[in-house]
Amino acid sequence: MGMWHERWAEQKTGWDLNGPHPLTKILFERVQALHPQVAKGRWLIPGCGRAHDAPFLLESGASAIDGRDLVPLAIEEAQRLYGHIQNLKFRYGDINDLSSSEVGAFDAIFDRAMLCALDGENRVNYVRSCERYLKPGGVFASLAFASTFEPEIGPPFQITKLQVEGLFGKGWQIESLEERRDGACGQKILSEWILIVRKL
Ligand SMILES: C[S@@+](CC[C@H](N)C(=O)[O-])C[C@H]1O[C@@H](n2cnc3c(N)ncnc32)[C@H](O)[C@@H]1O
Repeated sequence: MGMWHERWAEQKTGWDLNGPHPLTKILFERVQALHPQVAKGRWLIPGCGRAHDAPFLLESGASAIDGRDLVPLAIEEAQRLYGHIQNLKFRYGDINDLSSSEVGAFDAIFDRAMLCALDGENRVNYVRSCERYLKPGGVFASLAFASTFEPEIGPPFQITKLQVEGLFGKGWQIESLEERRDGACGQKILSEWILIVRKL
């Protein structure tokens, strides 16, 4: 059994906020201000877990959301909580396994604690997959961990400004990179980014 499956089986889901992230509203409004058409399009939530942000994004103007998680138990829980909501679909599977119909199928990606659940080559592969999911002009919108108390030990793995710039280089444009300490910081997290990157 993999690490994520174990965490879910043992209910070690300490990242779960039991509701939308406090900065999701600002993140969404910022996408809306920059790219109104994108904001009201189809969103993907990779590594959605219980997907507490999904209903909020739909209420705010997103037209449809697909939540994905590697672990069937996570998807069962998301389904139990929010499966009744129209235009919200969940499926389990590895985010890096895209079907051909999913290439370029999404206007926007909402990432919270997924980019920062990965490091090294896994992070690079994840960003590559996100690029493939998005339409040209689509947006990767993330609440990523800017600094953690124990940067060498993860997950979560922090992501520095330099790393953001390296990951989202050619083919992307960074539109927002604001460090905040008023989000969901806690025992492990010192600060978070409001990160918006546009696929060119
Ligand atoms: C730190 S949790 C964040 C969950 C959720 N975004 C939240 O904010 O509550 C990371 C999630 O990503 C999922 N995950 C890890 N690797 C994945 C992959 N390759 N494909 C899809 N989901 C993955 C894990 O099962 C876990 O639920």
